[in-house]
Amino acid sequence: MIDLRSDTLTKPTPAMLQSILSSEVGDDGRRDASGRGEDPTVNRLIDLAAKLTGKESATFVSTGTMGNLLAMLSYCRRGEKAAIAECLHIYRTEKAAFSPEYCGIEPVFYKTDKFGAPILESLEEVLKQQVKVISIESSNNFCGGTLIPLERMAEIRALADSYGVPVHLDGARVFNAASALGVGVDKIASYVDSVMFCISKGLGAPVGSLICGDAAFIKRATGFAKVYGAVMRQAGVLAAPGIVALGEAYDVTKRDNANARLIAGQLAAAGGKLEVDPETVQTNIVKVFVRGTGKPASEVLGELEKLGLKAGSVDAEAFRLVLHRDVTDEDVREGGRIISEYSTK
Ligand SMILES: Cc1ncc(COP(=O)(O)O)c(C=O)c1O
Repeated sequence: MIDLRSDTLTKPTPAMLQSILSSEVGDDGRRDASGRGEDPTVNRLIDLAAKLTGKESATFVSTGTMGNLLAMLSYCRRGEKAAIAECLHIYRTEKAAFSPEYCGIEPVFYKTDKFGAPILESLEEVLKQQVKVISIESSNNFCGGTLIPLERMAEIRALADSYGVPVHLDGARVFNAASALGVGVDKIASYVDSVMFCISKGLGAPVGSLICGDAAFIKRATGFAKVYGAVMRQAGVLAAPGIVALGEAYDVTKRDNANARLIAGQLAAAGGKLEVDPETVQTNIVKVFVRGTGKPASEVLGELEKLGLKAGSVDAEAFRLVLHRDVTDEDVREGGRIISEYSTK
C-alpha cells in the first residue's frame, strides 16, 4: 500500500532514533529569569530554530496547534479581533482560538486568492476594524501546499506596519515553502513578527513544533504555555531528533517538492476524470479535483485504496496526495501509475 495521506506519517530515521538515546536532558520547566529552561538539548533546538528563522527567540511545543494557539493568545485577549481567512488551518481545523467556548478571539475574515494569499484590498478593509494580529499561512495546506509569493509578503508587511498590526505566519511547512521559493526560511520569516513551524511533518521528527519571534513575544507565549500545561519537562528526547531533522530540512523538502511535481505531471499527462490545477503544485502537496468522476471525494478515496493507494481527504470535491521523506522513488512511480490508470479508466 502506498500511503500519501499526509506528511505526518513520517517515521524517525535511524539517526533520529540514535540521537534520542544519546540526548542529554534536564527539566525544561525550570526556567531562569530570562525564561530559559534547564534542558540543554531543548535549548540547542530553540537556538537553532531562532537562527534558522532569523528571530531573537523561540520555544518548543508539542504540536503546531499548540504553537498557533499560544501565538494567538499572545496577541489577542478574549473579544479582541484577529484577521484570518476561512482557508487557514488555524480556523478550519484548530478552532480553539476563535471558539467562544474556548479562547473567544473574534475572527475577521480577509479574502484570499486560490493560493491562500491575502488579497490586499480585502486585508486593508479588515485592518480598519482594529484587529490585533494578522494570521497568514504558507505553504497553505487546504489550498494544496500553495505559497504566498515574497512580493505579497512584503506588501502584507507594509500594510500591517501602516496599521501597526503584527503578523503571525503558520509555517507548519515553511521549509517546503523556502525550498520552493529558493530562499532560506529566515527570508520568509523576515516579513512576519512570529512564525510557527513543525518538525513532525515532512521533516520527519516524531514530535513537535517551534514558535519563533522576538523575546517579548516568546515570553508572553511561554507564560500561556505554562498555564495551559504546554511546558514539557525532559523534552530533550524530543528535541534531539528535531535537531537532526533541521539539519536535513532543505534537502528533504526539495526532493519532496520535486516528487509532488512528478506525480502531478504524470496525472496531468494521463488526463481523464481527475484534475489538477498545475499552478497550485508548488510544494509537497498535490490537490486533486474529482468533479469529472461524478462521485464525492470520499468514494474516490475508497476506490483508490482498493487499488493500493491511500490519499488524504480535503473536502467533497477534492483529495490530496502528500509527498514526504519516507515516500520512495518507486512509491512515486507506482502511485502515479495507480492514480493515472484510475483517472483514465
Ligand atoms: C498548516 C498547518 N498548520 C498547523 C497544523 C497543526 O499541526 P499539528 O497537527 O502538529 O497540531 C497543521 C497540521 O496539519 C497544518 O497543516
